[in-house]
Amino acid sequence: MSWDEAFGSRYEEWSAHMTADVAFYVDLAQRADGPLVELAIGNGRVAIPVAQPTGRRVAGIDSSPAMLEQARVRAAEAGVELDLRQSDMRALALDEPAALIYCPFRALLRLPTWSDRRRTFERVAASIRPDGCFVWNAFAFDHRIAARLDGEHQEELVPHTVRYSVGANRIDISLDDGAQSSLWWATKNEWLGLLDVAGLELQALYSGFSGAVCR
Ligand SMILES: C[S@@+](CC[C@H](N)C(=O)[O-])C[C@H]1O[C@@H](n2cnc3c(N)ncnc32)[C@H](O)[C@@H]1O
Repeated sequence: MSWDEAFGSRYEEWSAHMTADVAFYVDLAQRADGPLVELAIGNGRVAIPVAQPTGRRVAGIDSSPAMLEQARVRAAEAGVELDLRQSDMRALALDEPAALIYCPFRALLRLPTWSDRRRTFERVAASIRPDGCFVWNAFAFDHRIAARLDGEHQEELVPHTVRYSVGANRIDISLDDGAQSSLWWATKNEWLGLLDVAGLELQALYSGFSGAVCR
């Protein structure tokens, strides 16, 4: 279980600092000619600003009823229609192949094992147009950051503590109120291997949201 429903009630505050990715995904959506799908849509933080300028209904998959309810309410407040589907991204199935499938805010790291990710990548490959794009963002593990943060109580955003389990490539986030969530990081080669087994081709690899190419 990577996502405690109680974490969802603090998600708006938790994600408040994450704004840099929105223009990146909006730009991709504006260039995509066809259906748009967000995996792990959460509260619609990215899908709503994607739907606004494109005028298109974004399909959003999420396994959490509480997050989907937040997305429904926020979309209604923004006057935007989202096609929200409670489902697991490992079992992605679309009626129509997508032009763009995207997964912001390292949500693929919510999948614990390589095989969970392989299933997701294979479902993406089966659900995307031949000229379509699958885009996600993740972080690279940095031992210096891990050493600094491990076990340290942090007040920012929502008071919390993170613990690193390096042998399991897992980060456990515990909010002071008891809510939990976990992330399983992956290396660049693992991501490239996932593209390979799913029959997808790497088009670009960026080191951030400004378009700088990753070396
Ligand atoms: C960090 S939030 C990301 C939300 C949103 N994409 C954003 O950028 O703000 C992670 C989301 O992943 C969802 N999630 C976790 N595991 C999932 C799975 N196997 N299938 C679908 N959604 C999942 C959680 O319910 C949660 O809403």
